[in-house]
Amino acid sequence: MFDASPVTTVDTRAVHAGRDDLTALGVHVPPIDLSTTNPLPSIAAGGDAYEHLATGGPLTPGDTPVYQRLWNPTVARFETALAELEGTAASVAFASGMAALSATLLAATRDGRRHVVAVRPLYGGTDHVLATGLLGTTVTWARPDEVAAAVRPDTALVIVET
Ligand SMILES: Cc1ncc(COP(=O)(O)O)c(C=O)c1O
Repeated sequence: MFDASPVTTVDTRAVHAGRDDLTALGVHVPPIDLSTTNPLPSIAAGGDAYEHLATGGPLTPGDTPVYQRLWNPTVARFETALAELEGTAASVAFASGMAALSATLLAATRDGRRHVVAVRPLYGGTDHVLATGLLGTTVTWARPDEVAAAVRPDTALVIVET
């Protein structure tokens, strides 16, 4: 017999995560929002929304998104889905893999810890950035069973690719 009760396996969430509002919107395919900028109700309200979103706050009902780098519904759908599938509180999407890697390195090392432990093989661009120290990091290459021993007080992060 057909069971119409909600199923919440990871396979199902991989299809539906970030799309929970589609029924209410009356669509089957997520709308794509191509706006670069958004109307501001007033200069003051736009400024408030900008400050709120630029410091990592979520878009609250009635807020203008201001600018697509701060918040965009299409990107937000993807970030919501990714966070749900990864079991994290939030995620941040980038337009390219190297942009994500660069931002991660800069953010993780901003407190002065500049050492990275990395397991090869890595994507070639990532390997190059780490091997050359282009973004001010130093690297210790480790096999998976050597990672724990390679971590130092100044280690900012460990990079492993699946
Ligand atoms: C693991 C990994 N990191 C980074 C990148 C670089 O991505 P992009 O070419 O979007 O900068 C790739 C590209 O295939 C990748 O597979």
